[in-house]
Amino acid sequence: MEDLLVAPSILSADFSDLRGGARTIEASGADWVHLDVMDGRFVPNLTFGPKVVADLRPHCGLAFDVHLMTEKPEDLVEAFAKAGADWISFHIEATVHAHRLVQRIHDLGVKAGISLVPSTPVSAVEELLPFVDLVLVMTVNPGFGGQALIGSCLRKIESLSGLRRSQGLDFLISVDGGVNRATTEAVIGAGADVLVMGSAFFGSQDPAGEVLAARAQGRSKARGN
Ligand code: DX5
Ligand code: ZN
Repeated sequence: MEDLLVAPSILSADFSDLRGGARTIEASGADWVHLDVMDGRFVPNLTFGPKVVADLRPHCGLAFDVHLMTEKPEDLVEAFAKAGADWISFHIEATVHAHRLVQRIHDLGVKAGISLVPSTPVSAVEELLPFVDLVLVMTVNPGFGGQALIGSCLRKIESLSGLRRSQGLDFLISVDGGVNRATTEAVIGAGADVLVMGSAFFGSQDPAGEVLAARAQGRSKARGN
């Protein structure tokens, strides 16, 4: 397996100092910055729009992994691409024409991800798997950081990993929600390639230590320990 990627979520940073949050993520040795966009409709919370992403862009050299938890994601992808997103994931539950939207994200020069909430089965995204670069499996109900991982969602990671193998595909499997030291072993064991980490990262005295611990867990799985 490739090295595990760690994507701390800026949702758990101090919103009065998002630049500092992005710098903390970069200084920790993490791989990506995960940016949770919430519209108060698809999820019961509000965060930020493309201007915040554009304003952060010059202050951080890591890839920006934008997670759209919004209705009508098709109306937003261009603005987030222009703002400097490297990856844009949207929810299968939020749009009918997901295949078209994946193409549109690609046309904007951005990697495309499809996300699913805990109650959505893998079969809902199966037809899209050959076209996406990433599948973002939500292991909590989206809207807030700091919730406990829903264990039954691990089966979906295993199932995606199996489909990827059997169909010879190469999308990444990203896992978002309740990922922390107590859950990383199971999440990586199920087949995750990217760990999104909000409260476990920003709530730690040593965020770099969280990244190292997750990577060590990933390496130990690769060795088969
Ligand atoms: C939840 C967001 C997550 C959130 C994860 O709706 O999509 O990215 O930041 O936070 P933790 O890691 O605290 O569950
Ligand atoms: Zn997220």
